[in-house]
Amino acid sequence: MSKPCRIVAVLGTRPEAIKLALVINELRRRPSEFETAVVHTGQHRTMLDHALHYFKIKPDFDLDVMRPNQTLNSLTGRVLDTVENACHRFEPNMVLVQGDTTTAFASALAAYYCKIPVGHVEAGLRSHDIYNPFPEEANRRLVSVVTEIHFAPTANSRDALLAEGVPAEKIVVTGNTVVDALRGLSELPHSWENTPLAAIPMDDSRLVLVTSHRRESLGTDQQNMCLALKDLVAAHPDIRVIYPVHMNPNVRSTIHSLLGDTDRIHLTEPLDYITFVSLLRRCFLVLTDSGGIQEEAPSFRKPVLVLRRVTERPEASEFGLARIIGMSREAIVRETERLLTDKEAYLDMSAGENPYGDGRAAERILEAITRWHQGKMPLLEPEKEFKLPPRPPLRRRKSDAVEDASAARPEKVHA
Ligand code: UD1
Ligand code: UDP
Repeated sequence: MSKPCRIVAVLGTRPEAIKLALVINELRRRPSEFETAVVHTGQHRTMLDHALHYFKIKPDFDLDVMRPNQTLNSLTGRVLDTVENACHRFEPNMVLVQGDTTTAFASALAAYYCKIPVGHVEAGLRSHDIYNPFPEEANRRLVSVVTEIHFAPTANSRDALLAEGVPAEKIVVTGNTVVDALRGLSELPHSWENTPLAAIPMDDSRLVLVTSHRRESLGTDQQNMCLALKDLVAAHPDIRVIYPVHMNPNVRSTIHSLLGDTDRIHLTEPLDYITFVSLLRRCFLVLTDSGGIQEEAPSFRKPVLVLRRVTERPEASEFGLARIIGMSREAIVRETERLLTDKEAYLDMSAGENPYGDGRAAERILEAITRWHQGKMPLLEPEKEFKLPPRPPLRRRKSDAVEDASAARPEKVHA
């Protein structure tokens, strides 16, 4: 029997923990095939520890790089140094990184400098604008340059890599691992007792879930968004805004100073993953600039208004499930009001299957790594790759519409 493949999986922020969780758990379930070390750079402290706790992942290396209000350069330097050290100690066959954070970029570079092959989960997302999102668009392009196997979530991301000259045999279309993470959560009853949501009155209000944390939106854009949220609650007495505020101090100062103490706008601390997913399940619609939340919302058939000028995740908007609306006060108010008042528009955006994945991405990633380790090609048979589901039809029957729209009201029962 051949020796187990030694894998270092690196994570540092909340979305990396959520999106690598099932890959790590699957690697650890198969110890005769894989020896796995989880490296936690500590780029995020509290926000990521919530997710690790939920998925029962204990890091083997905790590098503790986070500093209050850290700069990108200093953070990158600390990750490069500490990940190199972890690589020397574990001597992996492959380093797995996820997405487009500083942890992903600097860890991929550290592995490359140590001549260790890199596997990139969520490869090939492109907005084609290096300042939107900043610095993520450049980070993920830089990771691609040093990557050995590109785990592209969809055919779109594969095509972007092919257009940049990446050889087809190094790309595997897997679906997004975030859909794997949601497996089992969609039916799970969950109580809001003892969570930051417990204080929110549970009446018939429609819940508008908001998150925003991107560096390119700090300042004026986020101020505009706050003013739009105030306009919306003033004009619609039947809505409540729930906004779990990111821990970046630059985000918190704006949001708390403009929205603190506003009637029916509820600012909370970041939610643990299961509480956040239960809120996603109960809300009426989502306004967000988050990558992961754009990908999760279609699993619960929740329309997403994307608070960005461009997205590298076009599948939901191509399927009519999301709209890229930018950050102007007028556009945010107009597009949200459309969904609050026009049932058919709402239903058109809350139909069909999730175009980002089918819950089997981790399985595909492990099969491809195994075949790579054994020197086999192709890394995954084309018929096993993730395929987009059918596009949902537009304008459903009126009778369905009324029924479904009332289902989108928050459930009152806390199980
Ligand atoms: C980072 C990623 C971004 C990702 C986001 C997910 C980079 C450059 N940015 O952005 O791509 O979308 O995470 O949330 O990699 N902080 C805490 N506790 C925490 C987390 C953050 O106090 O648990 C504070 C610290 O003061 C820290 C600051 O937030 O210095 C910024 O954190 P950082 O990881 O640099 O950037 P994010 O905006 O979180
Ligand atoms: N999330 C969470 N608690 C929150 C907000 C988000 O657990 O209060 C989860 C969410 O379900 C998604 C991920 O965090 O899986 C998204 O992280 P974030 O928006 O910070 O980063 P991005 O995806 O934009 O990189």
